[in-house]
Amino acid sequence: MIDAAAVRASPDIGLPGAPSLAMLVGMELDLLGAHADRAYPILVGLVTPRPIAWVTTLHENGKVNAAPFSFFNVFGDDPPLVVFAPGDRDDGTPKDSARNVRRSGEFVVNMVDETLAAAMVRSSASHPPDLSETELEGLATAPSSSIATPRIAAAPAALECKVHSIIEVGSNRLVLGIVHRVHVRDECIDPVALRIRQEVYQPIGRMAVPDWYCRSADLFELPRPR
Ligand SMILES: Cc1cc2nc3c(=O)[nH]c(=O)nc-3n(C[C@H](O)[C@H](O)[C@H](O)COP(=O)(O)O)c2cc1C
Repeated sequence: MIDAAAVRASPDIGLPGAPSLAMLVGMELDLLGAHADRAYPILVGLVTPRPIAWVTTLHENGKVNAAPFSFFNVFGDDPPLVVFAPGDRDDGTPKDSARNVRRSGEFVVNMVDETLAAAMVRSSASHPPDLSETELEGLATAPSSSIATPRIAAAPAALECKVHSIIEVGSNRLVLGIVHRVHVRDECIDPVALRIRQEVYQPIGRMAVPDWYCRSADLFELPRPR
């Protein structure tokens, strides 16, 4: 048990610019117990900014499904590994993206910049599975090279993925994908060094619920010890 009064009276913790110990006294939440119903807003509010995968998948009728997922990241490069996590709908049925990746074994992660943000958000509406969000939004698609699922042509970058595995943890579903091809808009990559030009490539990030996002233009550099 922390004695808050004693902590408030204690000296600074000693690191230059560090807060005093008093500032470390805060609220403690039990996400598996008393505060379980706050787990979602607390976690998605704290773990920010999150990258956004605008995932295209193929329905069995050949239509292209597009939906955003911010439970998403890259987890390694050998092999190149990404994970996104489509939950279930309120009625307990899997979302279309989850259903499609399980059947087809593939998906494309389309990255999102500010010009695509509004269309990306609109595509998160619940539509019948056989309806195409890319058609609805008038978004042109381009063929992928290694998979049948097309990518969104206007995306600054797209990752063609084949499903490695799908892991269910409680009501969470993690889709692990191996990236087979990457497409990057010309101006976003140095063609010689093959490095991303971060001053040009500026994806948006997901912030707190319900509707907050951030830009990635405000950067600072902090070299690592070598
Ligand atoms: C920015 C953003 C991020 C989202 N991230 C997720 C997520 O990580 N997991 C999830 O299940 N739904 C997420 N959603 C909600 C889905 O996009 C939404 O349920 C969508 O209808 C799913 O479409 P689908 O049924 O075509 O797969 C997100 C929505 C937005 C706008």
